Amino acid sequence: MINFADHPSNTFDIEKIRSDFPILATEVHGQPFAFLDSAASAQKPRQVIDAISAVYDSGYANVHRGAYQLSEVVTDNYEGARDKVQEFLNAEHRGEIIFTRNATEAINLVAASYARNKLNCGDEIIITEMDHHSNIVPWQLLKAEKDLVLKVVPITDAGELRMDIFEKLLTSRTKLVSVPHISNVLGTVLPVKRIIELAHSSGAAVLVDGCQAVMHESVDVRDLDCDFYAFSGHKLYGPSGIGVLYGKKELLDAMPPYMGGGDMINTVTFEESTWAELPGKFEAGTPAIAQAIGLGAAIDYINDIGLASIAKHEHALLEYTTSRLSAIEGLKIIGTASNKVSVISMTLDCAHPHDMATILDRSGVAIRAGHHCAQPLMDRLGLPATARASFGLYNNQDDADQLCQALETVQEIFG
Ligand code: ALA
Repeated sequence: MINFADHPSNTFDIEKIRSDFPILATEVHGQPFAFLDSAASAQKPRQVIDAISAVYDSGYANVHRGAYQLSEVVTDNYEGARDKVQEFLNAEHRGEIIFTRNATEAINLVAASYARNKLNCGDEIIITEMDHHSNIVPWQLLKAEKDLVLKVVPITDAGELRMDIFEKLLTSRTKLVSVPHISNVLGTVLPVKRIIELAHSSGAAVLVDGCQAVMHESVDVRDLDCDFYAFSGHKLYGPSGIGVLYGKKELLDAMPPYMGGGDMINTVTFEESTWAELPGKFEAGTPAIAQAIGLGAAIDYINDIGLASIAKHEHALLEYTTSRLSAIEGLKIIGTASNKVSVISMTLDCAHPHDMATILDRSGVAIRAGHHCAQPLMDRLGLPATARASFGLYNNQDDADQLCQALETVQEIFG
């Protein structure tokens, strides 16, 4: 039994935090709602919902265009959200923060604009066996177009990256290494700083898919020295429809635009166009205004609580839940890396993960079941699917207990 009052994050007011998330007070099938699918998309606090409502209530107009006061205010708010992201990632320049639709679009931007122009026939890209489809398919598309070589770093049975093999895969032809910061299936935290050092010493640029990381630990892109870093707002307690690509200024400056249209130009004639300065060059068309402002509110919310406190709380939950789950007969935890976050994939020997998720739902517990957009990882694990419980800052011991009790019900039904 974990005593949350005594654990190191005792300044962390879980009841106050839970009350910030209106959806957590709802019931599902007459049961308290135990939401354990934050790795897919996190719930939103009142502060974020209010910030988005306020845009449409009294603070909405297009940005960068209007000569009237409201448009200037909205432009300031939109650009203010960029400042918050810059500070959140410790980026050197605000122009290094590009708003995208999501992390997938951020990765596709790097593939289409950076890699397409930098890489030639026979050049190599390295990814990992743990990657999400969004960090596999864009490189496969480019590989087919440019005749590139795509190499994959294997993992151990515990779900840790084979760094020894990574080092051997790096060659003078390796031009890009693209890795997840944290696995969405296994919860493994990858040694990205070391990966970046090794890749750089071999002359390769590095993109980090930070989708599953930014809500669990603080990220400092200057300390990491990554060339690109991508994440989505909706997993960071912000709205969907907004993502971020961080890129080093000298790389972004040298890259051609990803999409053409309004707002990304300096001058246009029928003969030729010139491009806006960063970040405008990569933000064609009317952007996701309310979503960016909502993301800024989510960052304020996270900063108020503190990522260090959040990480302590989630780690205590991870340990508690792992120990309770380990006592359930026939349950196997998939992903036992020594450095992992509060994402627990599992299988039960008596039930398919989809059946587990369905029975859990009837007990008010929301988890994800399936391949988690990581089919090659499932092939490596020899599994068709896993059931995944993922914990966010608002989860508590009751959620963990509700999960374990519901799994015992699955055992009774299928066992
Ligand atoms: N990538 C998200 C997940 O892991 C959708 O569930």
